[in-house]
Formats: sequence, structure tokens, C-alpha cells
Amino acid sequence: MRARTPSRVYGAVNVPIHQNATYLQEEVGKPKVWDYARGGNPTRAAFEAALAALEGGERCFAFASGMAAETTLLLTLRPGDHVLLADDVYGGTYRLLSKVLGPWGLAFDTCDLTDPTSVRDAVRAETRFVWVETPSNPTLKIVDIAAGVLGRACGRGEGGGRQHVSRRPPRNVRSRSAPTWSCTA
Ligand SMILES: Cc1ncc(COP(=O)(O)O)c(C=O)c1O
Repeated sequence: MRARTPSRVYGAVNVPIHQNATYLQEEVGKPKVWDYARGGNPTRAAFEAALAALEGGERCFAFASGMAAETTLLLTLRPGDHVLLADDVYGGTYRLLSKVLGPWGLAFDTCDLTDPTSVRDAVRAETRFVWVETPSNPTLKIVDIAAGVLGRACGRGEGGGRQHVSRRPPRNVRSRSAPTWSCTA
């Protein structure tokens, strides 16, 4: 993992927690790095860099809660796009889709993500995410991401396109999981 340099101010070897909201700007619109803690701050940047290094990823985006991360990811989609969820998906995820993003225009279906036939039948041309949480909450079902079952089921595995176990999901069909699994058309 990338070595950390001690803090320049006091030499602390652990990253200090910066309890701060607004950052001084040399002039309006020209922050040194950050302007406001919600948009970015040194504590979160250090955490994201450490996690990206541990996971061998290029970037990491940290959120204050799982639902915040989910909402952000799902809002990269557009009305008319389709998301495929597990039939035992976490209740908060299901409610986000059914009560908020569904009425906004996002289509979704559930299926048994451990069953390739079920996935194949549920994937549509508009499917942008296959949303994988494994082990699932609450029933601890396992989707074997690395085995490539999902990619083949989407018709994008062997001979049908590309499937990735990736930390940098491409634009088309994507999933939320650890590690991030994604599958492109
Ligand atoms: C699978 C899964 N997704 C999302 C969440 C939501 O995370 P948070 O409570 O941090 O918003 C949980 C919480 O238990 C979860 O188990």
C-alpha cells in the first residue's frame, strides 16, 4: 500500500480528522484544493486513496452511508433505463427503486441472480445495471461474480461480448457488488 507522508503541520503519521466545513479561498472561486467539506475534504481524500490502493483500483468514492452510494450510482441512469435486482435485494435498495426512482422513470425487475436462466429471461435491451450484493442481505445468497455466470446469462460472456471483474465499470450494464462486477454490451 502507498506509504503516507506525515502531516506537514505537526508530523502526525495518521491522517488527522479534519472537523471543518468551509475552506479559505485565495480568491473567490479559487480554492487551494477544497472549498466545502461535503464536496471534498482531506480526511475523505486520504481514506479514498488508501482504499483504492488496497483494492488495486484507480479511484474510490466514499459515502457516508450505503444508501447515499446507491442513490448516487442509480442517479447516473436516466428515466427509461432498466435495473435488474436480486429477488432478495436489501429492503432499502428495493424501496429506493420502488418508491423513489421507479416513479421518476427507472424501470426495474427482480430475479434470482444465482440462476443464469432467470437472469437471461429478465435482462432487457434497456438494462444498464445488474445490481449484485453478495452475500445478500438478508438471506446470504452468493453470486459467484468471478465465475462469469452473470455475463454469460446476459449474453455477454463467452462469445457474446465482454464480462469484467472490474474496479472501473464501463458505461453499459453494471452492478453494485464487491468487487465491482460489470458487463458491457
Ligand atoms: C446490502 C446492503 N445494501 C445497502 C445497505 C444500506 O447501507 P446504509 O445503512 O449504510 O445506508 C445495507 C445496510 O445494511 C445493506 O445490507
